[in-house]
Amino acid sequence: MTKSTEQLLNIDRNSVFHSSTHLKQYAAGELPGRIITGGKGIRITDSEGIELIDGFAGLYCVNIGYGREEMAEAIYEQAKKLAYYHTYVGHTNEALIELSDRILKMAPEGMSKVYYGLSGSDANETQLKLVWYYNNARGLPRKKKIISRDRGYHGSSIASGSMTGLPIFHAHFDLPLERIKHTIAPCYYRREVENMSEIEFSQFCADQLEALILREDPDTVAAMIAEPVLGTGGIVPPPKGYWQAIRKVLDKYDILLIADEVVCGFGRLGSSFGSTHYDMKPDLMTVAKGLTSAYLPLSGVIIGKKVWEVLEDGTDQWGAIGHGYTYSGHPMGAAAALCNLDIIEREHLVENSHDVGQYLQQRMNATFADHPLVGESRGVGLLHGLEFSSDKSHRAHFDPSLKVGPQIAAACLERGLIARAMPHGDILGFAPPLIATKSDIDQMVDITEQAINQVMDKLVV
Ligand SMILES: Cc1ncc(COP(=O)(O)O)c(C=O)c1O
Repeated sequence: MTKSTEQLLNIDRNSVFHSSTHLKQYAAGELPGRIITGGKGIRITDSEGIELIDGFAGLYCVNIGYGREEMAEAIYEQAKKLAYYHTYVGHTNEALIELSDRILKMAPEGMSKVYYGLSGSDANETQLKLVWYYNNARGLPRKKKIISRDRGYHGSSIASGSMTGLPIFHAHFDLPLERIKHTIAPCYYRREVENMSEIEFSQFCADQLEALILREDPDTVAAMIAEPVLGTGGIVPPPKGYWQAIRKVLDKYDILLIADEVVCGFGRLGSSFGSTHYDMKPDLMTVAKGLTSAYLPLSGVIIGKKVWEVLEDGTDQWGAIGHGYTYSGHPMGAAAALCNLDIIEREHLVENSHDVGQYLQQRMNATFADHPLVGESRGVGLLHGLEFSSDKSHRAHFDPSLKVGPQIAAACLERGLIARAMPHGDILGFAPPLIATKSDIDQMVDITEQAINQVMDKLVV
């Protein structure tokens, strides 16, 4: 680099609008910046030569790890052959054909077609349009409302941000949209009635969903969108029997289920998809992140047969469907996805996620379940959350102004580990690349323990 880190960061502060950032503090130099210059395996390096274990795989997306030359080659080869052509009116490319066939073979039974976007947000936006079109084509123009969940995360565009159930993504943006409603999060730890079993709590969630549908009028409710495991809302695996109870309610009122697999898809839970892991039987699925391990932006909307047939009929009535992006089905994204799926298959990364994931769960639970600061240690596969509590026996929250989660994340960072302070509550999230080994997990757990103890000592003093 010809410019120093400080010089580059000054330019950055003057020119870049960063996501999820206090804009004024960053511009004024009151918040730190970091220039990432490289990465190999589960580690990234910054411009000062500091190496960090990426315990969150970027934003739960670099599943095959950093610095894969094979991926660079695949993208380069595709760029040389055909860097771009659109996919409007029957135009296609070989990488896209191969990828779509492969995704459908991997997906749960009954999936019929794949539409492509560039992000989880735009894919979920497409889902919503397709669901509206579907009910118009069925002659049900009132059936348009979408139900998502408090603490769900589905993106930050206008529709996907509305489906997201975190207040910070709504406030001051005039969201959510009127047609989007939220039901309770299936967070057993935060249940209001203490002596309720997990199964009873799942039924309670399904009853709450049904009550919302009845309040809104079932003839106006089109679909529910949900992540198999709540991710950004705090890494919360569903309680036992949850998906079965929810599916029953949706079936009763002719409501579609959209599984948002942006985090869970392609191995994060130790299974190919969260939908199959929990037997959700979705009608539509959204994939992104793990599809290319973020080497290039690519997302997919996987459409089940039942919806697809109606979309086809719709075009019989009204002509070509009015939906499309310039970059939909981009050949370079498709080439990256194919190479990524090859690596996942060849290196058995779904199985690794299962085995090393079990180790992660065991080590986290053994180390933190009885820790005085940890209210709950929970997770599945290579996805784990630690929720902190000021009084474990009463599941009490810390005063938010203490910023306990961010303090612990900062203490991890000082020791060379990136763990994510989740945006809701004092929760620390882990989602390492799927190539992580047991010894990587040992290192992550040890660092986390030191960091939590350091913050605990500060809180007690
Ligand atoms: C479950 C889920 N859906 C959708 C999104 C939005 O994806 P993107 O940030 O690519 O728009 C995310 C992003 O974290 C996500 O976790």
